[in-house]
Amino acid sequence: MHGKLCLLTAYDAPTAALLEACGIDMILVGDSLGMVVLGYPSTLPVTMDEMIHHAKAVRRGAPKSFIIGDLPLKGIEKGPRQALLSSKRFIKEAGCDAVKLEWGPHALQTIGILRKNKIRVMGHVGLTPQTVKKFKVQGLDAASALKIWRQARDFERHGAEWLVLECVPAALAEFITKNLKTPTLGIGAGPHCGGQVLVFQDMVGIFKKFLPKHVKRYMDLDTPMRKAVKRFAREVKSGVFPSKKQQFGMPKTEFEKFISQTQGRDPRNKRGEVP
Ligand code: KIV
Repeated sequence: MHGKLCLLTAYDAPTAALLEACGIDMILVGDSLGMVVLGYPSTLPVTMDEMIHHAKAVRRGAPKSFIIGDLPLKGIEKGPRQALLSSKRFIKEAGCDAVKLEWGPHALQTIGILRKNKIRVMGHVGLTPQTVKKFKVQGLDAASALKIWRQARDFERHGAEWLVLECVPAALAEFITKNLKTPTLGIGAGPHCGGQVLVFQDMVGIFKKFLPKHVKRYMDLDTPMRKAVKRFAREVKSGVFPSKKQQFGMPKTEFEKFISQTQGRDPRNKRGEVP
């Protein structure tokens, strides 16, 4: 296999177990949880409690994997101290190995305090859903490309061990990858990154509200799942399910005893009369 890093998101134990069994290098409990699992319109409403609940499930499903907890906006918006407490929760309560921090107003102060506390950090630049106003490719002109380059470089200088580059031109991602030591992980950032990350629900085709250009759907799981659900409903209504195969038997003598006991119930009412 190629030496590039492969990351996928997981939010529950069975998916995490599947990724671990398939040898995925790292599992990200992303705040995309909010959109692809919890039904929020964006990642912004996701709370730390929700992230911890799902990160714990992921750890239970993948006890040997390297798991990264994504700091949601609500877990960092009050500043670096809050981000430290949130990161400690990921590590102590959910057993995560590292946290991911999107670029934002306090990013450098925050990564500074996290590294001082020996917390391993993955930085995230480019399209950063917690702060951008519009979901679109970032770094298309020289000035914004320079901003992203500087953010990436500053993240490295402050101790980020990995860098997610989301939705940036491939040439910019290549430049950042070549000029930093920190491994880059691309999502909509072309083929030159040190690895690639995708959201699990996107790549297996079970989140279908929209399909960003950078997503490759490796399968369309939604269609067979719909077929299965419709067939279940048909079979219940027509009496095909459950069949003999899915039933439990009971010794005939025991059943007859049971019936005779129910029929042998004391027939008198409260007043002692037999109706
Ligand atoms: O929350 C998430 O899933 C992410 C990935 C898109 C990198 O941040």
